[in-house]
Formats: sequence, structure tokens, C-alpha cells
Amino acid sequence: MAEKIKKQDLPTAARLSVAPMMDWTDRHCRYLHRLLSARTLLYTEMVTAPALVRGGALHLLESNPEEHPVALQLGGSDPVELAQAAKLGAEAGYDEINLNCGCPSDRVQSGTFGAVLMQHPELVADCVAAMAEAQPAEVTVKCRIGVDDQDPEAVLPDFLEKIRAAGVRRVTIHARKAWLQGLSPKENRDIPPLDYDLVLRMRAAFPDLHVSINGGIGTLAQAEDLLAQGLDGVMIGRAAYHEPANILCEADRRIYGEDHAALTPEEAVRAMLPYIERHVAAGGKLAQVTRHMLGLFQGRPGARAWRRHLSEHGHRAGAGPEVVEAALAMVAPEGAHA
Ligand SMILES: Cc1cc2nc3c(=O)[nH]c(=O)nc-3n(C[C@H](O)[C@H](O)[C@H](O)COP(=O)(O)O)c2cc1C
Repeated sequence: MAEKIKKQDLPTAARLSVAPMMDWTDRHCRYLHRLLSARTLLYTEMVTAPALVRGGALHLLESNPEEHPVALQLGGSDPVELAQAAKLGAEAGYDEINLNCGCPSDRVQSGTFGAVLMQHPELVADCVAAMAEAQPAEVTVKCRIGVDDQDPEAVLPDFLEKIRAAGVRRVTIHARKAWLQGLSPKENRDIPPLDYDLVLRMRAAFPDLHVSINGGIGTLAQAEDLLAQGLDGVMIGRAAYHEPANILCEADRRIYGEDHAALTPEEAVRAMLPYIERHVAAGGKLAQVTRHMLGLFQGRPGARAWRRHLSEHGHRAGAGPEVVEAALAMVAPEGAHA
């Protein structure tokens, strides 16, 4: 079972991370990802500070002890409230507390959360300082290169300088702007152009910051290439979710230099069965877990039958591990090519 990671080991863990993704990187998803890679840093979905502090929604902090190293992402803009939420997160056992300064959704904008904070670097500095003061876990930031008509070349260094002065030592930069007006959150993940070069230049300009890059990274080879160019970490979102085995199974060996053999996707499925059994026995639905497993065999003959069987049968009342075993029997053995 994985244990809480030592604070000094987090920068190494952050060489590769799976991005925070609302509705996707829940505790079932993280349990699966941890089986595939022992080393990759995992992030929760964003949890808002008001939900924790004013709403008392502590169930949003639930996780499995196996998930370490795991970071809690918080949304908010009130230093006092964020400090309280960070403390709750540390007490719940998270290794790192991350502040969301990159998410452009309407709901989030309305509360001055997320990407709109790129316009308020002093406030962000106050927030992260208060969060760090309140509890022992490392506080990090995930941001964009700017928003709307901001000039990233000017605002990004200023933003990084201010959070650095407030004590932040690790930042993940989604290498595109967020356009707060006129684009949906989904469009904001694809349409504003990526600028990896600017992130690389920030890495050079801030030698004491650990800089991870995010946005549009689709393979482990691409991640290795960006690390070789001098970045400290690579964060992968959608590709890690849609093709978890393709990104994570080789990560321990290729990114962290481990020589232990990775689990195959089949082995990971079998290792999920006791977890699924416990979840279903506790009254949970099979599909809550299996929806994160649909992409495990991406590229393999039988992958479509696997997905279809889980999608069609995973929602049935009383469905349990036998549905997963039946779906697994439809997948061709490793080595067979699509
Ligand atoms: C379904 C979904 C939900 C997301 N939710 C969050 C979130 O809660 N917090 C956040 O900082 N970013 C969120 N993001 C953005 C991702 O963390 C990431 O920055 C973005 O997808 C770009 O990385 P990628 O190209 O590797 O997917 C979300 C992305 C997706 C696809």
C-alpha cells in the first residue's frame, strides 16, 4: 500500500502528473491510475473552498489510502476560506494542496475562481501564503499563460514572480490562454493556441521554480521530449484519462527509471476486481468505477467489445465484477494488433 509521500520527494513525483479533471479524476479513477503507475502524481477533481468550509461537504475529500502521492486541488479566492480548506485537505491526508488558477467555466468565474485569478496576482499571492501558513502540505498553483487580451509575455512572469515571493516553489502551466468570454470550458481546452516555448522560457527565467507543462500532450514520448528540453514536470489530462494504460503503464520505467515490470492492462483489471467488489457491496454502482476503465485497451482488438459490454451492462441493478470478467474475455491477448 502506498504511503503518504515525504515532502522532499514531491518534486520528483511531479515529473509526471495526471491533471485535475472535474467529474473524471474521482477516487475510483485515481485508484485505477495508481495501479497502472506507482510513481505518477495524481490530482483530485477541483473541490471549492466554500463547499468545504461553508457547506461542510467533507465527503468531497474522500480518497483511498493507496492513492499517494496525491494532490488536492482547491478552487476559491478568499485567503481565509482557502486556508481553512487547505487545512481540511491536509488533515484528510493529501500530500499537496493546489490552487486552481486555470479553469474558465462560468460557474467558477462567478465566484472569482480559476482562470480569472490570472488578473489578480496579488490576491493569488495572499491566498497561497495563507494556505501555506495554515497547514504543513506543500502549496502549488495550476495556471494558464494569461486570459483574454492579456499579454502572456508580460503577465506570466509577473504572476510567477508574485507567487514565488509568496513561497510557491512548484507551478503547472497550461500553455494556452483562457478566453473568459465567448468560449465554453471545452473550447477553452482546444481553441486558444498552445505556446510551449513561453513555458520553456519561464523555466529558464525562474531557476528556483519547479515548472510543469500542461496542454495537448498525448504520448509518453512527447512527455519525455519536454522533460529533455529542461522542464521539471509534465501534466497530462485527457490522454491519461482516455488511454490510461498507454500513458501510465510505462511511466514508472521511462519517467522515473524504475526497473520493476509494469502491470499489464489485464492485470490491472484483475487487481480492480476486489475494489469493485467492495464498492458494490457497500451499495455503489459498478458503472461508477468501470466508466474510468473504458479506455484501458485502446488500440487492441476487442477494445470496442470491452467498452460496449461495460457500457451496456455496467448500469444494470446488481451488476458486479462478473460483468468486468465477461468484458475482459472479449479482449485479444497482448501482442495482437488492431
Ligand atoms: C473533463 C475535464 C475536467 C477538467 N477539470 C479541471 C479542474 O477541475 N481543474 C483544473 O485545473 N483543470 C481542469 N481541467 C483541465 C485539465 O486539468 C487540463 O489543464 C486540460 O485538459 C489540458 O490538458 P490536456 O490537454 O492534457 O487534457 C479539466 C479538463 C477536462 C477535460
